[in-house]
Amino acid sequence: MRRINDNTVGKQVSNMIEAQTRRTVRPTGVECPYSEDELIVSKTDLKGRITYANSVFLRLAKFPLDELLGAPHSLIRHPDMPRCVFKLLWDTIQAKEEIFAYVLNMAKDGDHYWVFAHVTPTFDANQNIVGYHSNRRKPDAAQIEKVKPLYAALLAEENRHDSRKDGMLRGYDMLVNLLRDKGLDYDEFIFSI
Ligand SMILES: Cc1cc2nc3c(=O)[nH]c(=O)nc-3n(C[C@H](O)[C@H](O)[C@H](O)COP(=O)(O)O)c2cc1C
Repeated sequence: MRRINDNTVGKQVSNMIEAQTRRTVRPTGVECPYSEDELIVSKTDLKGRITYANSVFLRLAKFPLDELLGAPHSLIRHPDMPRCVFKLLWDTIQAKEEIFAYVLNMAKDGDHYWVFAHVTPTFDANQNIVGYHSNRRKPDAAQIEKVKPLYAALLAEENRHDSRKDGMLRGYDMLVNLLRDKGLDYDEFIFSI
């Protein structure tokens, strides 16, 4: 694992611009292989800008570390991910809680990989949040097959609305209603998959 401290503001800005422009990269449909015993790790600042990534992260995301540091974590966002999942993620960690979530990520070249992520806030000695941390493992194929139709339904709901924000909120409502119908809270649901 590597840790880099010397990052220039200029490089951070160019990484943020790269993150915006690469939304034009199309998914290839090709899955990046990795094994069940590998751990994909990253850390961010309070705004979700990457401050650390381990070697497994670099290999799967296919970004060199200097292109990741300072870039928003959405750099590896896959367009098939529903926005409401990220709303839940951010609402939870900003409330000083941990969250587990299935996430589909997109590598620099458009290849993809599913992860089961455990995202936590990092605290200082006074219990203030100073950053965030995500550890991810490879989910079972059967778990991914259960998550795919759920995420597709959430995304379809989100895309029915002209405004991205409205879409996200309607997707979020859909997720909340689904959990209510099942009589499960989010954590119970995620571990029932
Ligand atoms: C510690 C941490 C790890 C994250 N990991 C991922 C990730 O692996 N993939 C991802 O798409 N978003 C991840 N996010 C969420 C992103 O910050 C962002 O909310 C998401 O990509 C949606 O971006 P968008 O709002 O620009 O669409 C992570 C956030 C944090 C704080």
